[in-house]
Amino acid sequence: MEYTVNYKNIVNLRVFDHQEELALSFVEKLLDRMLEISSGGGYFSVALSGGSTPLIIYKYLSRVSDKHLNWNRVLIYWGDERCVSPDHPESNYGNAWDTLLTKIPIPPGNIHRMKGEGIPSEEAVRYTKELKKLELREGYPVIDLILLGIGEDGHTASIFPDQMELLNTGEWVSPAIHPTSGQKRITLTGKVLNNAKEVLFLATGSGKKKVISQIINDEPAAQGYPAYHIRPTRGDLTWFVDRKALDE
Ligand code: 6PG
Repeated sequence: MEYTVNYKNIVNLRVFDHQEELALSFVEKLLDRMLEISSGGGYFSVALSGGSTPLIIYKYLSRVSDKHLNWNRVLIYWGDERCVSPDHPESNYGNAWDTLLTKIPIPPGNIHRMKGEGIPSEEAVRYTKELKKLELREGYPVIDLILLGIGEDGHTASIFPDQMELLNTGEWVSPAIHPTSGQKRITLTGKVLNNAKEVLFLATGSGKKKVISQIINDEPAAQGYPAYHIRPTRGDLTWFVDRKALDE
């Protein structure tokens, strides 16, 4: 069963009993948006999220037959990447490759991976150039749809609570560092995330309960969470959560 709740600062919160139901609905929404643009002859740009939560989405998406979706018109980017090789088990690209990209007829040139194996500062510059191929609005690239997760510390993409400056930097792409593991990261910055036509947050499991509750109830602590500050300036924001991630 699904229901939608409107909170003060999160207009669209869609709540699902189970992760599978959430995944199916998420893919449906993804397809609607992809078809809307790509069937009009345009290209649809989507930035995939890292982490483990979206992997079920990618598996479901990989089963969508190409008669429903023209992958030639879909451009794939990433919201962030771990600075590891693409075949490393923690690679966001590697996980998307295994669960989705090897199973869909998408032209290799449509896949714009962040090269985690590179020097972070140099890769940030290179990836910025990749994004320059997109429509610009107020000096920042416009990605049609950005999928995001949220960490238990309220981070999103690889913008962490101790690097809040990445929310408002003029850079489009930046190196970052995971505050506890010290792992080097590369991330889209807040201005790019908030320039998207649509952002879909995906959060499941009781581990996310605390941060989700603080965000949807607009508690003071939420101000310290990068995820709290992601709301497209001229786009749509929807959170997909399961009941376990809500105080229920
Ligand atoms: C990453 C992500 C990150 C992720 C959250 C949630 O590279 O790790 O982009 O922002 O979405 O940490 O991760 P889980 O889905 O594994 O809980």
